[in-house]
Amino acid sequence: MADRIPYIAANWKMHKTAAEAAEFVESLLPRITATENDVVLCPPYTALGEVIERSRGSGVRVAAQNMHEAESGAFTGEVSAPMLLEIGVEAVVLGHSERRQHFGETDKALAHKVPAALAAGLEPILCVGETEEARDAGQTEGVLERQLQSDLAAVEPAELARIVVAYEPIWAIGTGRTATPEQAQEAIAFARDVLRGRGGDADAVRILYGGSVKPANAGELMAQPDIDGALVGGASLEPGDFAAIVEAA
Ligand code: PGA
Repeated sequence: MADRIPYIAANWKMHKTAAEAAEFVESLLPRITATENDVVLCPPYTALGEVIERSRGSGVRVAAQNMHEAESGAFTGEVSAPMLLEIGVEAVVLGHSERRQHFGETDKALAHKVPAALAAGLEPILCVGETEEARDAGQTEGVLERQLQSDLAAVEPAELARIVVAYEPIWAIGTGRTATPEQAQEAIAFARDVLRGRGGDADAVRILYGGSVKPANAGELMAQPDIDGALVGGASLEPGDFAAIVEAA
């Protein structure tokens, strides 16, 4: 790995009340005191404040799971970057496949969201990945290229290194079916080539793998030369499992 600090993020999705989140943080922190990796927790909006308070001074950072591209406006149910920053959020997951599939998230919106997050000072964790049909049809690279080019269209090359990318093949999310380390490496090396083609320091960008990462497979995935960490869903809900993944990086 070219001097990239491993990055492990817990995507809790719509799990954990604020009280449950507090309990998780209390249990997690003593288990990861020795780590030098970047550790990021992505709780639901209602638990962000609690997780920020409890993890203060620990090095653990907190991300939201989505945001709107505008600073404010008539967008019922949405949350903006300044609102997240105000309470101490430092990063934001953008373009998760569940948002693309179930909530109509588009590459067009992401082309505004990614620069809006950067401009506000939030670290975007941009998720990309192909469906099973696309993979079977040999279109994995085409999908990754299209998503990255569209979602990053308005990002200046000099800003590229501030972005984290998560390659999450949709067929591996929540299915227990992990990409093999070779499949993940191949797709992530391709994604890095796409970034390289955009100019800027693509070798400084952390590119994560996501999709059924567990303590048992995290080590071999993250040992691949281009895989810089993991975006963990199911296995991030239990502090012992998540700490084991942090340690495996
Ligand atoms: P999973 O989810 O680890 O449960 O497959 C990953 C994700 O959706 O980010």
